[in-house]
Amino acid sequence: MVQQTREQWSGSRGFVLAVAGSAIGLGNIWKFPYMAGANGGGAFVLVYLLCILAIGVPIMIAEILVGRRGQSNPVAAMRAAAEESGVSPVWRLIGGMGVLAGFLILSFYSVIAGWALDYTLRGLTGALSGLGAEEAQAQFGSLLDSPGLQIFWHTLFMLICFLIVARGVRGGIEWAVGWMMPLLFLLILVLVGYGAWIGAFAEGFTFLFRPDFSQLGPESVLMALGQAFFSLSLGMGAVMAYGSYLSPQESIGRNTVVVITTDTIVALLAGLMIFPIVFSIGLEPQAGPGLLFQTLPYVFGQMVAGSFFGFLFFLLVVFAALTSAISLLEPATAYLMARRGLSRLQAAGILAVIAWILGIFSALSFNLMSGFHPLGFIDALSGKTFFDLLDGVTSNIMLPLGGLGVALFVGWRMKRAAVAEEVRLGSYFGLWYFVLRFVSPVLVVLVLLYSVGVLRG
Ligand code: PHE
Repeated sequence: MVQQTREQWSGSRGFVLAVAGSAIGLGNIWKFPYMAGANGGGAFVLVYLLCILAIGVPIMIAEILVGRRGQSNPVAAMRAAAEESGVSPVWRLIGGMGVLAGFLILSFYSVIAGWALDYTLRGLTGALSGLGAEEAQAQFGSLLDSPGLQIFWHTLFMLICFLIVARGVRGGIEWAVGWMMPLLFLLILVLVGYGAWIGAFAEGFTFLFRPDFSQLGPESVLMALGQAFFSLSLGMGAVMAYGSYLSPQESIGRNTVVVITTDTIVALLAGLMIFPIVFSIGLEPQAGPGLLFQTLPYVFGQMVAGSFFGFLFFLLVVFAALTSAISLLEPATAYLMARRGLSRLQAAGILAVIAWILGIFSALSFNLMSGFHPLGFIDALSGKTFFDLLDGVTSNIMLPLGGLGVALFVGWRMKRAAVAEEVRLGSYFGLWYFVLRFVSPVLVVLVLLYSVGVLRG
């Protein structure tokens, strides 16, 4: 392929930290632990690991491969790879959908990350100490009720994200993940230690790992599939864009394994951090935002040095969200730069402003616009706000569709020789290629059907 002068990671460390930074996000911290606990503990963890192997590894390898082969943003990379193999350039639409999905996710991800910023400040100022259960609930409620406060934090988060991406692949993204990710690992270890020391470690451990196959229905299996997908940031161009900055000398297989192992370990550690803390005062874990922004602030409020450790916890959430958010902005930025000949600063700026405006509608979905249900005329979507719809469409439909497209494209449309030349998996090639062609697509289709509600009847 033609080698253009484009930016590159300084080495595999930068690439691994950037992709791991994208993968490790809110999904690891609030979704995975609860899902595992509620769906049979160790039994769910086992199924999740199988999903990671059957979907995560093969599709991540495929995405990196296309990005590096095409040496461009996801849209142009898909097109270049298609042209090289003599198939229709229409495949670039898969890249286009990914870029769009990432951009849309960014708009509301920033709002939620804004909540975490708000709680980081509360921890720092000691506002969490001694918090009662009702007060904790009221505090979160008043944050949700306040458009101004939410928009303020959302603006700040988006601005930081823009500044990082605008500074480029090495000077911005690699620089940011280079210190945020080590700090994130350190914070998580400190908090797991804190939970083990002060909380109910054995109980938390049991909740997360004790295999209970009676709790594991077909629905849990599909949940594990969807989660594997979301947690690895697949299907939205981030991994592809990051892959395009990977030097041809680097091994795609080895780097993928390192990233995926890291993401999985962090998800498990997040459970070992959260549950012992929650169980320490005999509470039952909730799901979703309630776990992070109501239960945990309350529990931290009751614990020794709780406000400080609460501060560390929310700082961890902010870093996790930020390193994911920059991977949501980068693909669209790279696309706009190439497509319109804009500078990085201009492209990232325009996109950040548009995502910021969209995000305001998400922030308003919790207060002024909570009664606005854009697709209310469809029965199944009657109670859904703008935020709910955007979240649902992107994570449940666009991401799996994008991943499916990549698997089919690399597995069935690209020339086998080109694929083999780019991945260089050695003796693993046959196994990977087989899974990518025959196993992953079937599983992703199941996720999609499930998402669309077909399997739920
Ligand atoms: N992987 C991130 C998480 O676990 C979410 C994400 C999805 C980030 C898609 C970027 C792109 O929270």
